[in-house]
Amino acid sequence: AGTGSTTGYILPHLPPLQTEYVFTDLGTSFVSKAKEKFRDYPFVRYQTLDIEVDPVAQGFESHQYDVIIAANVLHATTSIKETLSHVRKLLAPGGQLVLLEATTRQRWVDLWIGMLEGWWRFTDTELRSDHPLLSKEQWQQMLSETGFAEVVTLPETDGLPEVMTMQTVIIAQADRTTVESPSSGKGWLLFGDKQGVAQKLATQLRSVGEACTLVWPGEKYQQIAPEEFTINPNQIADYSRLLAKVTANQQTSIEILHLWSLDTPVIEQLSVETLLTFSKKASGTVLFLVQALLKAGCTSQSRLWLVTCDAEPVQGIKSSISGLAQSPVWGMGRVISLEYPDLWGGMVDLDPQNLSTDESVANLLAEIWDGDGEDHVAFRDEQRYVTRLMPSDQLESVGIKVHGDATYLITAGLDYFGLKLGQWMVDRGARNLVMITPQGFPLPAQWTDIPPQSEEGKKIETIQSLEKKGAKVIVFSADITDQAQMSDILEQINQLEKPLKGIIHGASVGGECSIEKMEPQLLEFVLGLKIVGTWILHQLTKNIELDFFVCCSSVGSIWGSQDQVHDHAINHFLDTFSYYRRYLGLPGLTINWGNIGAEAMGVAPSYVESLERIGLEELQLEQALSAFEVLLNSNAVQTLIARVNWGIFKQVYQGQKSRQFLVEIESKSEEFKELLSAEQPEILKQLQIAPESERMGLLIAYIQYEVSKLLGLQGSKRPSIEQGFFEIGMDSLMAIELKNNLEANLLVPLPDTLTFEFSNIVSLGEYIAKKILDLEIVGHAQLEPKKNEDKNDGKYQEVSANLKELSEQEIEDLINQELEDLGAI
Ligand SMILES: NC(=O)c1ccc[n+]([C@@H]2O[C@H](COP(=O)([O-])OP(=O)(O)OC[C@H]3O[C@@H](n4cnc5c(N)ncnc54)[C@H](OP(=O)(O)O)[C@@H]3O)[C@@H](O)[C@H]2O)c1
Repeated sequence: AGTGSTTGYILPHLPPLQTEYVFTDLGTSFVSKAKEKFRDYPFVRYQTLDIEVDPVAQGFESHQYDVIIAANVLHATTSIKETLSHVRKLLAPGGQLVLLEATTRQRWVDLWIGMLEGWWRFTDTELRSDHPLLSKEQWQQMLSETGFAEVVTLPETDGLPEVMTMQTVIIAQADRTTVESPSSGKGWLLFGDKQGVAQKLATQLRSVGEACTLVWPGEKYQQIAPEEFTINPNQIADYSRLLAKVTANQQTSIEILHLWSLDTPVIEQLSVETLLTFSKKASGTVLFLVQALLKAGCTSQSRLWLVTCDAEPVQGIKSSISGLAQSPVWGMGRVISLEYPDLWGGMVDLDPQNLSTDESVANLLAEIWDGDGEDHVAFRDEQRYVTRLMPSDQLESVGIKVHGDATYLITAGLDYFGLKLGQWMVDRGARNLVMITPQGFPLPAQWTDIPPQSEEGKKIETIQSLEKKGAKVIVFSADITDQAQMSDILEQINQLEKPLKGIIHGASVGGECSIEKMEPQLLEFVLGLKIVGTWILHQLTKNIELDFFVCCSSVGSIWGSQDQVHDHAINHFLDTFSYYRRYLGLPGLTINWGNIGAEAMGVAPSYVESLERIGLEELQLEQALSAFEVLLNSNAVQTLIARVNWGIFKQVYQGQKSRQFLVEIESKSEEFKELLSAEQPEILKQLQIAPESERMGLLIAYIQYEVSKLLGLQGSKRPSIEQGFFEIGMDSLMAIELKNNLEANLLVPLPDTLTFEFSNIVSLGEYIAKKILDLEIVGHAQLEPKKNEDKNDGKYQEVSANLKELSEQEIEDLINQELEDLGAI
């Protein structure tokens, strides 16, 4: 930016709170002068940059800049192509380069500026044979050869007087992909779709030297071309065989894209049977693929991406959710991301309007090639969307009430929660309830024979209490996945005097099972229950004028939870289903329940405690019902109702991987402020009085001691200081405890992602020392052994020896000696 004359015109027009402006120049003197000149603009940063050298090597992050402005500078470099490739490396996908360049040769300029050596330093003589300036056309050509999709030059009008066209403004937009040659060295395994996305992706990848294998669903495992296979999607052995083959020669990591979901027909074309078939196909093949990856032990060198189309609702975009049948895959993805963070790449939901266009494929590739850590992404109308959990404080009341001259249907109506919902409705004025239970239930004439203390007896007592309040309760024993039974029930309801006005759909099956151990039959069974059951209910009632259709889902389908991949797959179908109904103009509300009235439901206290440890507190039944009332009467489509201690939950959730999903949820910890006012802890006092040379050793020994406590290590056993936290046996909960203990004893706020960002004791110690405690420790300098000193002189001297020069065992032995003393802290 030189003297900053262009900058001087631009800065006053930029919104300070939304702008980050980086002023660069080759020389430090220009940069220093600019700091002075633009001191009134706090959003400006200053950095030296030589655009002829790779910017990443100069400390710039690649693909982070939305707009780059260069006024009469780029021509003054030796190679335009190389210079533009560096500019391209700085620009974000779709970012813009704004150039001001002289494009007309003028003799007086050559005579004047030509006296400077720099004017003639170009060496790309195949482009510029005898002069440094490029014509408009040459710029256009160079830009399109270096990764810029659109180029506009101004002024465009021919015939302007020459003086007006000496300088040209050139605006070039970087394409949305950031693929750069040479090859990344990764392998690519694409489970290819019939829509052409995988095929185009493979072509693009191969064109830049990437090794790419395509896999198609077929009859059996077969290599059909040098880099193409078929496998039987229902045979896990085929996936294993394929992985063994593909990874055999693969030295580095492998990106795996599951695109088979894209072959699911749009929802309108599906019958109950085909809906189930295709949902099973999409989710079942993801399950087999993950299981085969686990079996092959290649989860740490592979990254899995799940690709769907129009399976996710996007705020502000009217969509038919035509990919509803693919939505369970997103529910599965949320669990996979928690259970196998190393394996997890992300989920990308493509735009149904341009599924297999070049742009769509470029978007997908850019997401994987050069992602920014977002793992829930959708593309619509040329825009990229990411998923965020948002507080829903602006619910609009729409005046829905239950009333006496209508009938309400509750599936799972005789389970604890179903009956409570029934009671709640009767208390609000409902007088006609239809409850469905899959178990046979005695007819009213038999009720006197049922022991009052039996489960059935208690349910009968509740029904009778509702009847005493004037309500009529009809119980049907039926399986909601049985179309004939459900048609029959709806037929009977339609013949009642009071029209059906509301449905609460709560039927579900619980149970836990890890992804690794899950039998495909279990996944199929639960898919059958919720997908088929829901679809049948929807089909049978879609022409009835309902006030509400509420689906009960769970918080797990929003953020995942371990060992419940099947449950969250189907619950995520329900999450999306309500948006689909809204698109059709029908009422639809999905509630993602947290841990409701666990005690009243007889849930084991240990389970409740385990949820509390991760921040999910028990939601009392009354609280659940009050929230239900608000939601029922609102315009909400999908809402989470749970009691969450976000301070704990966010830490657990991000314990093993940084996640953007909860960034909008605040979790300010009051506890930390309290800690600050407490008396100074012992370790801090020791750190402050210790000689500089010993502080690092002391701090590392202290962190190691805290980790030992968490791992329950006895005696002189100590965890490795260089091995990863999770490798030495810590889990997410321990990571939080470690963070909390360190905060409490060092009186410093630490990030939630502490053990993710600093993966072992040494790196954590260095971070705390340098960034937070502001100790006088410079890099490893303080870890150097003190020469010519008696080893017994410094208390922690041995520990502060150069860690790089010692074996792990030696370091451990040294630290063990010192830790004896720390036991008292
Ligand atoms: N309770 C919570 O904390 C919580 C948390 C998150 C989400 N939820 C959701 O809220 C809803 C109710 O929760 P809950 O804890 O009461 O669930 P639950 O105890 O698992 O009850 C589910 C009910 O569904 C019935 N059912 C199963 N298969 C059926 C079929 N084929 N046809 C008809 N009914 C069938 C079950 O009947 P049988 O028992 O007779 O088999 C049972 O009554 C569920 O959808 C659940 O996913 C609850």
